[in-house]
Amino acid sequence: MSTAQRVLITSALPYINGVKHLGNLIGSQLPADVYGRFCRALGRDTLLICATDEHGTPAELAALEAGQSVEAYCTEWHGVQKDLCDRFGLSWDHFGRSSSRQNKELTQHFARVLWHNGHLEVRTTRQVYSGTDGRFLPDRYVIGTCPHCGYDRARGDQCENCTRVLDPTDLINPRSALSGAADIEIRDSAHLFLKQSAFAGRLREWIDSHKNEWPNLVTSIAYKWLDEGLQDRGITRDLSWGVPVPDDIADGKLKGKVFYVWFDAPIAYIAATKEWADANGKGEAWRSWWTEGKANDPLSVRYVEFMAKDNVPFHTVGFPCTLFGANETEQPAWKVVDHLKGFNWLTYYGGKFSTSQKRGVFMDTALELLPADYWRYYLLANAPESADSSFTWEHFAGTVNKDLADVLGNFVNRVTKFCAARFDGKVPDDGRYGDEEVKLASDLDVRVKQYTDYLEALEFRKAVAELRAIWVVGNEYLTRAAPWTELKTDRARAAASVRMGLNLVRLFGHLAWPIIPSSAVKILATVSETPAIVPWPHAKMGAFLSELIPGAPIQPADVLFAKIADEQIAEWQTRFGGTE
Ligand code: MF3
Ligand code: ZN
Repeated sequence: MSTAQRVLITSALPYINGVKHLGNLIGSQLPADVYGRFCRALGRDTLLICATDEHGTPAELAALEAGQSVEAYCTEWHGVQKDLCDRFGLSWDHFGRSSSRQNKELTQHFARVLWHNGHLEVRTTRQVYSGTDGRFLPDRYVIGTCPHCGYDRARGDQCENCTRVLDPTDLINPRSALSGAADIEIRDSAHLFLKQSAFAGRLREWIDSHKNEWPNLVTSIAYKWLDEGLQDRGITRDLSWGVPVPDDIADGKLKGKVFYVWFDAPIAYIAATKEWADANGKGEAWRSWWTEGKANDPLSVRYVEFMAKDNVPFHTVGFPCTLFGANETEQPAWKVVDHLKGFNWLTYYGGKFSTSQKRGVFMDTALELLPADYWRYYLLANAPESADSSFTWEHFAGTVNKDLADVLGNFVNRVTKFCAARFDGKVPDDGRYGDEEVKLASDLDVRVKQYTDYLEALEFRKAVAELRAIWVVGNEYLTRAAPWTELKTDRARAAASVRMGLNLVRLFGHLAWPIIPSSAVKILATVSETPAIVPWPHAKMGAFLSELIPGAPIQPADVLFAKIADEQIAEWQTRFGGTE
């Protein structure tokens, strides 16, 4: 494990069009936030970056359908997504936009250097042009009859019926998916290709150097691509919405074309860092986050990326090629990812979340039903790490009711209310900790270290299971200590266990903050702590659990988590559908 004290974290950039579902959330943004909070809690210099991915045909078409200019459409949806991020507690240092001025400049810069370094080449390709639509059509917007199975609505990239991969020129009776028009012709069109094949050796060495550290899911995808032989990649498109190809590349042969969305989107990680620096008067500070430091440089950065598995090829092959290829002799090398965390799919009752069929739960509706922490906890406890995992309402309600309401919420409630009722709402100062407390502290030393190690290793399911185990240990202690009975015979003993109970409440607040930040803040308010960044408990538990000052006021908590009733489960199953 690196000891770098500067940590750069990025989440895959959500596409601009539409509200993201819970599967998108747990596949990149939520775990990125948890790790970012954890690093901040540890006192690391942390930069947490995300942005909307705004270019490409889907955004253009969605704008058209909404009757808006694509710029206005993207501005509106960036606002919607940013607001949802805030309400989910996603604590980005900057939530930028791939359509920003900074990204346009950087994307063009990268292309110029790649061109200058001899890594780009102009090739003539055959593209579908629709006369009626007055534009080139991306492959999947051409439909026609499949030459293999005769299905008459096959898409130009793939036949949905027989799943064969197609080229639009394979289709019989091709027509435009936009207008249905059949006046389609194939035109020659010049495009820029990134000569990725030249980087195969370097990429393999780089992946090899991380194979023991990165999830198997990630390295196996990367090796599959390398083993199949790297193809050169077209990085421009015949569209109007995107970063324009500058005229000084390829003698203006690409005039009027734009870069492919998958070329400019990862560069937007860097550009969003620049947006952050520009917005905060930090000038050139963005560069230090994105350049490789020398070995053992205390200022060197550890860069961690979060994404779902379909994004892995672009981040283990595409983006690294761009970065390797754009290095310049006089400049420090661009930073490539140090740790790449990939996720499998979250399913909805074993099937796909579907935006078009309105199947599953989306970020906006989720927050209409329940506060963010309920979702955060459930999703992280069931993160699709080693395999896909399935969302069901029964499982969700069971987890919330047991773990959050019964185990955590009830503990905080019991202890703080009892203190208010019987100890004048103050941390009791009589009674000494005895053997029970010593044993509890040493048990927690082991568990807190384990929890910390799981978070550091980005093992979210295991981390949450350990966090829950810590809550259970606290509950068991309190049940054994039973201050409510003890109070009748041995007030000092009862006082000591209530004091310990309150210190445990405080510990739970500190440990839970990366996972369920708003609840952690409420928990800490009961012991009058209100830090903006909740520090990680560094001390041994024996010391940490003695830190509340006797006599300090306690504000009892209201119900932290409401239980989900059977009728609600039934209602939501019907409303969100697709459960059979
Ligand atoms: N928008 C893509 C998706 O949702 C992810 C882009 S990640 C980036 O799958 F690297 F391009 F930024
Ligand atoms: Zn077919």
